[in-house]
Amino acid sequence: MEEKDSKFISIKDAMKLGQGIVSIRGWVHRERGSKKLKFIVLRDSTDIIQCVIELEKLGEEKFEIATKLQVEASLKIVGEIKKDERAPTGFEISVSDFEVVGESDTFPITKDQSPEFLADKRHLWLRSRKMISIMKIRSTVFGAIDEYFKGEGFYEYHSPIFQAVQCEGGSSLFDVDYFGKKGVFLAQTWQLYAEPAIFALEKIYTIAPSFRAEKSKTSRHLTEYWHAEMEVAWATFKDIQDYGEALIKFVVKKVLDERLEELKILERDPEKLRPTVEKPFPRMTYDEALVILKDKCDMAVEWGKDLRTIEEDKLSKLYDTPILVTHYPKIVKAFYMKQSPEREDVVHGVDFIAPEGYGEIIGGSERESDLGEIKRKLEEEGEDVSQYDFYLDTRKYGSVPHGGFGFGVERVISWICGLDTIKDAIPFPRTMLRWTP
Ligand code: 4AD
Ligand code: MG
Repeated sequence: MEEKDSKFISIKDAMKLGQGIVSIRGWVHRERGSKKLKFIVLRDSTDIIQCVIELEKLGEEKFEIATKLQVEASLKIVGEIKKDERAPTGFEISVSDFEVVGESDTFPITKDQSPEFLADKRHLWLRSRKMISIMKIRSTVFGAIDEYFKGEGFYEYHSPIFQAVQCEGGSSLFDVDYFGKKGVFLAQTWQLYAEPAIFALEKIYTIAPSFRAEKSKTSRHLTEYWHAEMEVAWATFKDIQDYGEALIKFVVKKVLDERLEELKILERDPEKLRPTVEKPFPRMTYDEALVILKDKCDMAVEWGKDLRTIEEDKLSKLYDTPILVTHYPKIVKAFYMKQSPEREDVVHGVDFIAPEGYGEIIGGSERESDLGEIKRKLEEEGEDVSQYDFYLDTRKYGSVPHGGFGFGVERVISWICGLDTIKDAIPFPRTMLRWTP
């Protein structure tokens, strides 16, 4: 088969043409055959299509090759495309010639395998229609985050991954052996390195990996996840909440505009996401959340305790959009959150909780401006304050009100796609129990 590469079109484009001779290439998704006919469902990145190879048309030698084809062999195919309602995607190609590019051993993944087996074979499982659809939605989500922030006049900015500080609590830090030195960790967040930059750029964002040594084996924790973070100078607490809501709406709308087909393959009802785009997100204080939990969910939470997963889940199920919970007790939140000017026992911190029990998707706050207060809290946490000198300097030279948030990209993808576990929201998940392949 001697053709120029430019002759090949995608399966999707071939189906758009709908008739005539087309050249496509891809991988055998399914195959079955009889003595005279071989049916191949070919897959490329765009779609799948049924192809028929006939003994009578191709001759014995070629047909013999076709009968030996296994799932995942790569092929180039030329043939005539036609509408066929019985075919899986409504079209069929009657093959006039084909070439095997790479043969395939017997593919280890067949139907109904355990999640553990699929995790071991993750590098091959990526080819499944489920993972392909999720990865496409993931790509759209990343693009939408960029587009949103660029559209709002933010600069993309980058922080180091090796850091000598904690920001989200010492217990989830990953230690690095840094040339034999101790006290170097993988970033939990960009925040302490983002705050210095708002004095230069004012509005910044990033999408980067964050690391958490989470000992929890839940459906929503990764040890390495992608974190979309923003930080803004002159921002009020309300500004931060508004940005978070607008970002989520923008991302979900983008997926609904561009990825309905993938949601369908995932059997995810897009109508579940529609209210997020159309309705304002309910905003409540922690105190109000406790009342709602008591009255509507029959759950009593002692004031001063953080909301647990189970409480967040119950609360989220009362609404069809994400909700914002603000003004948490100071004692459950990080050292950098601004103490509320009206009440000294709560902070200007916000958690966005996704609907349907997908948990916290954004955590953010206005930042504490009082240098003494920050130092005191760090000391309370047993930190070596001298490591934070660079951060404390931000409050000494022209400090301004500011704030920011972190958006857990896999948490959002998990919710958008309706996944059972966050592990499927990332190609190669890292958890407490899995770091290979
Ligand atoms: O609430 P967190 O810990 O907030 C911060 O890191 C702030 N410094 C962000 C900022 O203000 N710049 O994390 C932010 C979000 C959470 O809401 C959650 O969506 C996600 O990151 N997240 C995780 N996602 C997956 N696996 C984990 N182990 C996660 N931990 C947090
Ligand atoms: Mg949080």
